[in-house]
Amino acid sequence: MKAIPSITLKNGDRVPALGQGTWNMGESAARAADEVRALQHGIDLGMTLIDTAEMYGDGGAEKVVGKAIAGRRDEVYLVSKVLPFNASRQGTVKACEASLKRLGVERIDLYLLHWRGTHPFAATIAAMETLIGQGKIGAWGVSNLDNDDMHELLALEHGGHAQANQVLYNLSRRGIEFDLQPYCAEQDIAIMAYSPIEQGRLLKDATLAAVARRHGATPAQVALAWTLRRPGVISIPKASVVAHVQENRACLDLALDAADLAELDQAFAPPKKRRPLEML
Ligand SMILES: NC(=O)c1ccc[n+]([C@@H]2O[C@H](COP(=O)([O-])OP(=O)(O)OC[C@H]3O[C@@H](n4cnc5c(N)ncnc54)[C@H](OP(=O)(O)O)[C@@H]3O)[C@@H](O)[C@H]2O)c1
Repeated sequence: MKAIPSITLKNGDRVPALGQGTWNMGESAARAADEVRALQHGIDLGMTLIDTAEMYGDGGAEKVVGKAIAGRRDEVYLVSKVLPFNASRQGTVKACEASLKRLGVERIDLYLLHWRGTHPFAATIAAMETLIGQGKIGAWGVSNLDNDDMHELLALEHGGHAQANQVLYNLSRRGIEFDLQPYCAEQDIAIMAYSPIEQGRLLKDATLAAVARRHGATPAQVALAWTLRRPGVISIPKASVVAHVQENRACLDLALDAADLAELDQAFAPPKKRRPLEML
């Protein structure tokens, strides 16, 4: 199996380009054991970046992650997020402390503002910097920020400490390629592609199926390999089934060639003009 390429963030952290999402985990006690098993299997396969949020399952996803990483904290790169309405100077610190408790860890490696709310960026940045000073987080970043928001953020004191922008990015959501992705690349801010298989909706696409067939691969693998075709992108599929985790990990064995990429461009046209950032 091909090794997972790593990405070096602006602060020097090295993270795998293929990680694991956790949205919808921690919502049902009956499913928790499978979710823990799937995440652990992903860690075993090198998908050691785990993305979660205080929002997911109302804290339940963080508890599932906590179970999955118990006894192996040092193997993983933990990403969690503060909800916008908690993202005040003090609220961010409180929210982080609650996340740490649920995760059962002393530090979150990368803490993101989930999306822009009413609290000024400056207050959230100040809180993030405090949390770094206290050792409760290693670094901070943002999520769902469009190009103009990023410009505003980066103009603020310490705004340039943002390490990543987690956004919706997959074959059917290519708007960021027009301006946001180039701007983040220029500023050395990693893109974390969320919903890389469009929550499963891409899997029935005929073009994906045709490309997959040519390579003896699956549509999910084509969708994931496509998100990873350029450097600077971290893809975080969510899978709560071990077989899905295995399949997703193997996307790195698939090398999309120029003909595949051209065919995919035909079916999912790249943006010709600016499109507002989409969110799920
Ligand atoms: N920052 C944000 O605002 C934001 C928004 C959305 C998502 N996210 C993050 O990004 C992660 C990924 O996005 P997502 O969960 O929305 O969608 P996704 O990863 O595109 O799709 C997840 C869905 O696809 C299924 N799946 C996964 N691998 C599969 C495979 N190989 N074959 C068939 N089905 C497969 C999963 O099923 P099973 O679970 O049954 O395996 C699940 O139903 C989230 O979990 C979350 O961590 C962040």
